[in-house]
Amino acid sequence: MSMKKPKIGIARGVFPEVLAKLEAHFDVVSNQSDSVLTKAQIIAMLKDCDGAFTTGGDRIDAEVFVACPRLKIVANMAVGYNNFDIPAFNAAHVQATNTPDVLTETTADFGFALMMATARRITESEHFLRAGKWNKWGFDMFAGSDIHGATLGILGMGRIGQGIARRGSHGFGMKVIYHNRSKLDSATEESCRASYVTKEKLLKTADHLVLVLPYSPENHHTIGAAELAQMKPTATLVNIARGGIVDDAALALALKNKTISAAGIDVFEGEPSVHPDLLTVPNVVLTPHIASSSVPTRMAMANLAADNLIDFFAGREVRTPINNLPQRAGT
Ligand code: GLV
Repeated sequence: MSMKKPKIGIARGVFPEVLAKLEAHFDVVSNQSDSVLTKAQIIAMLKDCDGAFTTGGDRIDAEVFVACPRLKIVANMAVGYNNFDIPAFNAAHVQATNTPDVLTETTADFGFALMMATARRITESEHFLRAGKWNKWGFDMFAGSDIHGATLGILGMGRIGQGIARRGSHGFGMKVIYHNRSKLDSATEESCRASYVTKEKLLKTADHLVLVLPYSPENHHTIGAAELAQMKPTATLVNIARGGIVDDAALALALKNKTISAAGIDVFEGEPSVHPDLLTVPNVVLTPHIASSSVPTRMAMANLAADNLIDFFAGREVRTPINNLPQRAGT
């Protein structure tokens, strides 16, 4: 008896090895051209699919589930899942999965790199050099701020925040303070050498503030004009969390007015568009949402998303569920 393979849709391009692995298990519709699909195109692709492989830019909500009634699982190749409407997943009884853990250390490396590039004005000085403006050494040329010995503030102390804290305290002798929805247990605080403070104290005390909290409507513009005004004028701000956590217009103004000294931003409100004012201020390092992008880690993320689909249709527990669906009779 030949069993019909489940059908899955892959919303964006993916590593050929991962595509081949999925093709061994599924009837696959893929988008190897890697064009960004509109909602209508996603629906057209997933209309008769049993499962989907998505990335953080693909919005999946009730509209998709109504139009694609066969969908039973959507595997996101990202740890953040603000592109998923989880109550709609639960209502439609669709499994959601993400890719935690495999990207923690790589993303923490990048957060640290962006903080260092920001504090030491790496890209700003490179632009100066490439523009042919370097004709003499100067005693305060691109003088930035120190990392070693400085106070590192972390807003959002999950796995990635803890990785950045460890790098700062163990590797660079930084004093680490953090604010989080809940205080960590003392063993975790001890391993990170980090102390819990109020958000206000964090803003006022940090020499370098790194944002690593998940996006939710409640923390939209968690860092806006009022918060930036509380920071030290010598401080730097790094956002590797999500666009929308920072008010980008307010940030551009704060950078222009030197309310803070510099920023490093990997994620933007409305990306891939970038607020035009951010493009005109020199004291900001801008990167195109690449914090998890090392070759091994992007491969691990793609494989984890694929394995969640494979395990699900083989009747096994998915590896990294976002929602826990109640068992339904007959399934
Ligand atoms: C990237 O932004 C992710 O959430 O994995």
